[in-house]
Amino acid sequence: MHERVKGQPQAVTHMLDIVKRAMTGVGNNRNGNRPRGVAFFAGPTGVGKTELAKTITHLLFGDEGAYIRFDMSEFSAEHADQRLIGAPPGYVGYDAGGELTNAIREKPFSVVLFDEIEKAHPRILDKFLQILDDGVLTSGRGDRVYFSEALIIFTSNLGIYRTDGVGRRVHNVSASDSYETVQAQLLSEISRHFKEELNRPEILNRIGENVVVFDFIREDVAEQIFHQMVNGVFADLQSQGYTISLSDGARLTLHALCLKDLANGGRGIRNQIEAHLVKPIARALFDQDVQPGTNLHVSALEAGTLTLVTV
Ligand SMILES: Nc1ncnc2c1ncn2[C@@H]1O[C@H](COP(=O)(O)OP(=O)(O)O)[C@@H](O)[C@H]1O
Ligand SMILES: [Mg+2]
Repeated sequence: MHERVKGQPQAVTHMLDIVKRAMTGVGNNRNGNRPRGVAFFAGPTGVGKTELAKTITHLLFGDEGAYIRFDMSEFSAEHADQRLIGAPPGYVGYDAGGELTNAIREKPFSVVLFDEIEKAHPRILDKFLQILDDGVLTSGRGDRVYFSEALIIFTSNLGIYRTDGVGRRVHNVSASDSYETVQAQLLSEISRHFKEELNRPEILNRIGENVVVFDFIREDVAEQIFHQMVNGVFADLQSQGYTISLSDGARLTLHALCLKDLANGGRGIRNQIEAHLVKPIARALFDQDVQPGTNLHVSALEAGTLTLVTV
C-alpha cells in the first residue's frame, strides 16, 4: 500500500483503519442499509487520492473492476442529480436510468468514488445524505438501490485555497507547512465549509472521524515517484519486446524537467514524463521503424525530443 501511494503514511494508515472497521463491522454503528464505510479524502491535487482509492479497491475485491468513479465537476448543473438517479417518468432519459443507480445495481460490492465534491450542485448533497443515512436511493423509475455493501469515498481540495479579504484566491496551506499544520487547517476549513457555507453540518456528522488528510508531495517523495514512473515506462516497453536504457545525462535532464514544479504533485511528474519521454520514444520508434527485439538506448534528451540509438 505504501509502495503504491508514496509519502502518505498518515493517510494510508488512517484509510486502512477505516477499511478494517468497515470489513469487520466493529465499532461501525451500522444502521440498516448504511454503506460499509465512508471516507473523505482531503488534500492538494495530484498527491495520490485517486490512487489510494484504486489501491483499496484492489485490496478489497482483487481487481479494480469494482471501482466506480463520478467526477463531480460534471455534475454542477441544476438537474445533475437526475443524471445520478435517472429521470422521472415522462422525462427525456427515463429509459436509460441513472448512472449511479445503474452502477450500484450492477455492482453492489464496490468502491464508489465521488471526486471533487465541492464542484457538485448543492442538490446532490441531498443524495449523498440519503446514501450515508439510509443507504438507499430511489431511482427515477422508482426502484430502490442499496449501498449496504459499498465503500463510499469523497475527495475534495477544500481548504487548500481560501478567499482573502479582497476576494482573491490565495493558498491557505503550502508545501512548506508541516503535515500537522496541513491537517489542522484542512479539517477546520472543511468543517467551516459544511457548517457555514453549505449549511449542511449533518453530512459532516455522518463522516465523523473519517476525514483522511493527504500531505503535499515534497522533493524526496517526488524523487521516488519519478523513479517509479520511469521504471513503469521501461517495463511497458519491455512487455512489447524492447529493452531500453537512459544515459546518465538524459536521466538528469528528465529528472530536472520532472521535479522543477511540484504544484501538481505526482500528476505533474506524470505529465512531464509523457511529454519528454513517452511521446518522443513513440515518435522515434515509429519514424525509425524499430522492430521489437531491439535493444535501445536514449543517448541524449532535451525538452520534448530525444536521441534513440540501437545498441
Ligand atoms: N503519493 C503518490 N505515490 C505514487 N504516485 C502518486 C502519488 N501521488 C500521485 N501519484 C501519481 O500522480 C498521478 C495523479 O495522482 P492521483 O492519485 O490521481 O492524484 P489526486 O490526489 O489528485 O487524486 C497518478 O499517476 C499517480 O500515480
Ligand atoms: Mg483524483
